[in-house]
Amino acid sequence: MTCHSAALGQALLPDARSAVVAPREHTALDTGWRFHRGDPEDAREQLHYAVRPGIIQSVDGKDADARPETAAEPIASRSDVLKPWILPTANPFIRDASRWHVRPAGDPGSDVSFVRANFDDSGWRQVTLPHDWAIEGPFLADGPYGGMGRLKTWGAVWYRKRLDIPATDAGRSIFLTFDGAMSYATVWLNGRLVGGWPYGYASWRVDLTSYVEPGGQNQLAIRLDNPPESARWYPGAGLYRSVWLTKTHPVHVAHWGTVVRTPTVSAKAATVELQVSIDNDASSSQSLEVATEICALDDEGRKHTRPSVIIPAQKVEVAAKERITLAGSAVIANPRLWGPRPHQQPHRYIAVTSLTQGGKRIDRYETRFGIRSLRFDPNSGVYVNGQHIPIRGVNNHHDLGALGAAFNYRAAERQLEMLQEMGANAVRMAHNPPAPELLELTDRLGMLVVDEIFDSWERKKTPLDFHLIFRDWHEPDLRAMLRRDRNHPSVVLWSVGNEVGEQYTAEEGAAIARRLQQIVREGDPTRPTINAMNWAKSDMPLPAVLDVIGLNYQGEGIRDTPEFAGTDRIRTPPQYQAFRQKFPDKVILSTETASTLSSRGVYLFPVSPENSAPVRDGRGGDSTSHQVSGYELNAVDFGSSPDRVFAALDRHPFVAGEFVWTGWDYLGEPTPYYSSRSSYSGIIDLAGFRKDRFYLYQSRWRSDLPAAHIVPHWTWPERVGQATPVHVFTSGDQGELFINGQSQGRLKKGAFEYRLRWDDVRYAPGEVKVVVYKSGKQWAVSSTKTAGAAAGLEVVSDRSTIRADGKDLAFITVRVVDANGSTVPRAANRVKFTVDGPGEIIATDNGDPTNLESFPSPQRDAFNGHVLAIVRSTGRAGRITVHAGSAALQGSQAIVQAAPQAL
Ligand code: GAL
Repeated sequence: MTCHSAALGQALLPDARSAVVAPREHTALDTGWRFHRGDPEDAREQLHYAVRPGIIQSVDGKDADARPETAAEPIASRSDVLKPWILPTANPFIRDASRWHVRPAGDPGSDVSFVRANFDDSGWRQVTLPHDWAIEGPFLADGPYGGMGRLKTWGAVWYRKRLDIPATDAGRSIFLTFDGAMSYATVWLNGRLVGGWPYGYASWRVDLTSYVEPGGQNQLAIRLDNPPESARWYPGAGLYRSVWLTKTHPVHVAHWGTVVRTPTVSAKAATVELQVSIDNDASSSQSLEVATEICALDDEGRKHTRPSVIIPAQKVEVAAKERITLAGSAVIANPRLWGPRPHQQPHRYIAVTSLTQGGKRIDRYETRFGIRSLRFDPNSGVYVNGQHIPIRGVNNHHDLGALGAAFNYRAAERQLEMLQEMGANAVRMAHNPPAPELLELTDRLGMLVVDEIFDSWERKKTPLDFHLIFRDWHEPDLRAMLRRDRNHPSVVLWSVGNEVGEQYTAEEGAAIARRLQQIVREGDPTRPTINAMNWAKSDMPLPAVLDVIGLNYQGEGIRDTPEFAGTDRIRTPPQYQAFRQKFPDKVILSTETASTLSSRGVYLFPVSPENSAPVRDGRGGDSTSHQVSGYELNAVDFGSSPDRVFAALDRHPFVAGEFVWTGWDYLGEPTPYYSSRSSYSGIIDLAGFRKDRFYLYQSRWRSDLPAAHIVPHWTWPERVGQATPVHVFTSGDQGELFINGQSQGRLKKGAFEYRLRWDDVRYAPGEVKVVVYKSGKQWAVSSTKTAGAAAGLEVVSDRSTIRADGKDLAFITVRVVDANGSTVPRAANRVKFTVDGPGEIIATDNGDPTNLESFPSPQRDAFNGHVLAIVRSTGRAGRITVHAGSAALQGSQAIVQAAPQAL
């Protein structure tokens, strides 16, 4: 028996997305969409999910760790809103069937022109998915919009598409599956309301079966309605993840209907347990056979042709309109284990489940998984396959910089690849479930994941955030995440919340936490729960509930310096010991650390002598230019420098590790300058250029890599003779610094020191060089030279070949260089991009948080010598030439091949 390759089931690779193989078809609906902003004139308020409270006061610029508030009033509910028709979509994710929602009579919205089949949408904009309608801007330069990225994401929008449902589909079950729709989605087919889902980060589906007309015209209309002030970051907008049309035999594997577990794992053998749930949508009882074969996957996710093992066929009978769940198991000898890089290799398997009736295959469902064991030890942290894995993680939001929230496989892969280059082995999905493909990527690349569901429970952080719908939707949203993500080996923890307002309560918070924990246990008893806490203390009821203690900033201490005496904001002395004493049996993990702030390539003088202090004018900050210094010493008020975090971790070796806030810069939350568009906390800037901090983390996380990184650049004509501190981030332990060959002294890292700093160096043009030693031996040498005037552009593509599939991307980076090819470190030249061949520029960026030029612009000023262009394949194969030019500078180009075959 062989494993046939087909694009079915879940977790597909992008090159396999639209293949259609009977009997199950699972097709990405990427093309043929029409898009419109705003409701039609004939729409009245009845298209709202519910009546929203008015926004009395904007919270833009409020401290990220401000105390969340009680929601003012329960939301008014009126009979002429859609909520009662939307809620039944949640029923499959509500455990207690007696609480299932009953759809009221009537077909709301059917009289609205936009939902009608015969409505003429030819004047609407044609779009392809994934689509983020807000990312193109323009940026909102004025007003309280910094928190959500200065882009207008709110307001009603519509998507329409004609569905292809041939007459031969009569009798099949037909579903529309959303990987994510931002937000408050309502779906109509042929003028009739089918269902919807409010939470924009959830994956969900509606059953179209009783609404379709096989062989007839089938017109889909989707309304989305993002609220304003609904997030503390840029949420994105639109059908920003894939939408799928799924057609099955009436008897089929249920939605996310498989569970794979590996209860015993050793080098010699692993037990694989598989549960399969089967739905019978037919009106008569059905007998069938269920069999599964398990094959290994290669590094790229392709199946080996010979199965490793088979779970033999079982005969079952499923009553009409019922679901059954059956269990099988198999033992795989000499299993190839999944583990995080670089410590281990992320080997994977695939279970291919077939349903047959009278010898005919009626369904085929794929489940990708990995074999690994997982253990949490309160004394040392996380163990995968018996090996201790110190958590070297980062937090990331879901946006992809200039591409917005619209998911793109390559853009996400690039983010993770750069994080791995730095030595990161884990990602916390802040603060919501990611696109499903992102977990395919963390599985494939071997990174551990904290999968997180909510940023707020019943208490609000922003006026119209998730708290409005928590009561109705926490259960379906959480169960949907668990069912979707439970087979991913990369997921090791379920986080039920981030800094929720209920931390400040006693029993109220603990009760909600218990309820969420119970839901997690029912959905997946194999992984522990966590909750990220920046306030709750060890003697409060909330931390006692969750399996693992998740601390945000508390381990290092928060605002525990005299500067903050008397403030009513959070102040906390370091907390690791207190939690350890109270919970000796629980693992402690820092879910957020640092929140160090900086702008790439900006250095502000004088450099303050302390390591770790809040950004202020004259102390890392500049409230005129709205930039933060790249010496990487200053943080958000409640944060710490990386060095201070490392010291706290090294003093408390029982802590499992850290998740830095953040790996990449993200849109929105531009603390400390809310006139900007994007954050300052990334280790990598929004365009993907490494900040200096990248090398500080790399020096710790990849201590075997001989490296030394010099801060700052060495082109300071206005500073001749002035104190210009030089800091070196290195995996070595000693270093000698030279300015134009003259020694500035040899320094050694002291206990709990993580950088070498020569603070008294006087600037002289020429060369700064460091020779670094480790354990007494020379380890690395690095130097930087003073650059001359800008002379030209160096243009480099991240890859020489991309897929000619209309989706793959080339990231083209441009450096402004002098006549010798050295970066001109403060160059701000305007760079214009043009393309020949089958590629198009879809966005440019320079990583400057204050830059408000719209992302689709094909030209942009360099920021500290760097600019980025993102070029997408048009779908045709051929040679793409990307040219970058700038007045008075020598232009240049990069060549990228768009190749027809899958890479
Ligand atoms: C934390 C919060 C994050 C982010 C961060 C900014 O308090 O959990 O979402 O706001 O601060 O530094």
